[in-house]
Amino acid sequence: MPDPIWCDVALSHPEVPVRLIDAGRARGAGPENVVCGVIDVLRATSTIVTALGNGCAGIHPCPSPDAARQKAAALRAESGEDSTLLGGEQDAKPLEGFDGGNSPLEYTPERIGGRRLVLSTSNGTKTLAAAGGCGSVFIVSFANMSAAARRVAEELGRGKNRTLLAACSGREGGYCGEDTAAAGLLIAGVREILGKNGVELSDTARAALRVAESIDGDYSGMLRESQWGKHLAGLGLGADIDFCGKMDWTGVVPRMENGVITPG
Ligand code: MLT
Repeated sequence: MPDPIWCDVALSHPEVPVRLIDAGRARGAGPENVVCGVIDVLRATSTIVTALGNGCAGIHPCPSPDAARQKAAALRAESGEDSTLLGGEQDAKPLEGFDGGNSPLEYTPERIGGRRLVLSTSNGTKTLAAAGGCGSVFIVSFANMSAAARRVAEELGRGKNRTLLAACSGREGGYCGEDTAAAGLLIAGVREILGKNGVELSDTARAALRVAESIDGDYSGMLRESQWGKHLAGLGLGADIDFCGKMDWTGVVPRMENGVITPG
């Protein structure tokens, strides 16, 4: 009987390296044995899932706006000016020289279909950078929650990677309720599939489950009450909050390999 899956949560992107070290202690697992679900409900992972579902050819997350500008220039030099869009934000504000922001509603099939997207955001793309060494990295949001739980459980069941890390992006290096709730939903979904005895929870994972259980299904309402949700609403981005609060509307579970995110 194999050891149960070790399941942990990083509450923000700076915690990801520490949690990966802990996974090593708990299961002797290196990052290459970790299945990581990266979460940034408001809004990076919601945007990534939406853009790839709308035909985006691939997403290149970059941890800083300057790195994104350089990456976009290189892709355009390689494949033509129209091949790539440069999107993102810093503190939810547009960035100089960028084609778009970080709203999932911007990346329609007409705008992103067949094109690559280079993306740099305040927290989400930093989480992706921190998770890059994990054995498998999936992109998780409310939009694809059930499909993501199935895909993560399938990967864990293959036996090679026996550790699950739900990597919350958080807010400015700290906790945010929406990402932790999403981590709890992901863990609940994986336990539903693999069986509660098949998954051993860290204290943080257990707390995330409780956060998810405390929400009565009104995910948009929870987002509107969150600090970042209030900030976005104050900037007139309330439509993004309602969109990011929609649960399970897509089966797309993007995967990041070698720094590029594809529909999986
Ligand atoms: C983040 O990366 O922190 C968020 O995606 C910021 C945003 O809402 O654009």
